[in-house]
Amino acid sequence: MLKKSKIENKGLDQIVNLCNEIRLFNFDVRCGNVSHFELLTIASVVAAQKPHVLLEIGTFDGNTTLQMALNAPDNAIVHTLDLSSEVISLAQPILEVDLKFLRDTQKKQRKYQKTSCKKKVNQHIGDSVAYDFNAFCKEGFIDFAFIDGGHSYECVRSDTENVMKILAPNAIVMWHDFTPDFHGVFTYLNEISSRYPLIQITGTNLVYYKKQ
Ligand SMILES: C[S@@+](CC[C@H](N)C(=O)[O-])C[C@H]1O[C@@H](n2cnc3c(N)ncnc32)[C@H](O)[C@@H]1O
Repeated sequence: MLKKSKIENKGLDQIVNLCNEIRLFNFDVRCGNVSHFELLTIASVVAAQKPHVLLEIGTFDGNTTLQMALNAPDNAIVHTLDLSSEVISLAQPILEVDLKFLRDTQKKQRKYQKTSCKKKVNQHIGDSVAYDFNAFCKEGFIDFAFIDGGHSYECVRSDTENVMKILAPNAIVMWHDFTPDFHGVFTYLNEISSRYPLIQITGTNLVYYKKQ
């Protein structure tokens, strides 16, 4: 089992200007969500980048969706994709941990729904491995993507390859769960680190990439 990371670590202060104002709302976390510091990190990157078209794979209860929308410009659109809870068959086998998140009942009440950010969010339902990613490009190519959907090697590879094809110049991609505990994510991101200048943000399981 691959345990050693090949990806360089950098502090958040080396990635973004920490003097940007960030906004967080209703940001309590529970099992399945990114941590508080990871939320703050994502919010800081979005606030600094000012992306107009954002894509999230893995909406869950909409916590990251809401904080991304809050920190993006007023005219930004956040596309977010998740499986239907009634999903019967998938293009790739699903991990036990992903089944747990998929069956989570609280995620039906997505956090952005009762906020003013709702108008910035476009919820998509489907299997990312079989989804037509052109659906996210109606407003132009993607400026910021957050990949936190299925955790199998096949799923994270498919999500990454699909996202890389629709990135605008200078776009940023972030992945969650870069830890040996999520073997598929850890192995895949280590593999592609020879092709892409990936950075793990210190104190998080987030990996960051900026397209040149
Ligand atoms: C760990 S949760 C995301 C957590 C969220 N980013 C947060 O912290 O607020 C992963 C989500 O990905 C979804 N998911 C898993 N496999 C997927 C697939 N193949 N396509 C779309 N969504 C998927 C699950 O249903 C689950 O809601």
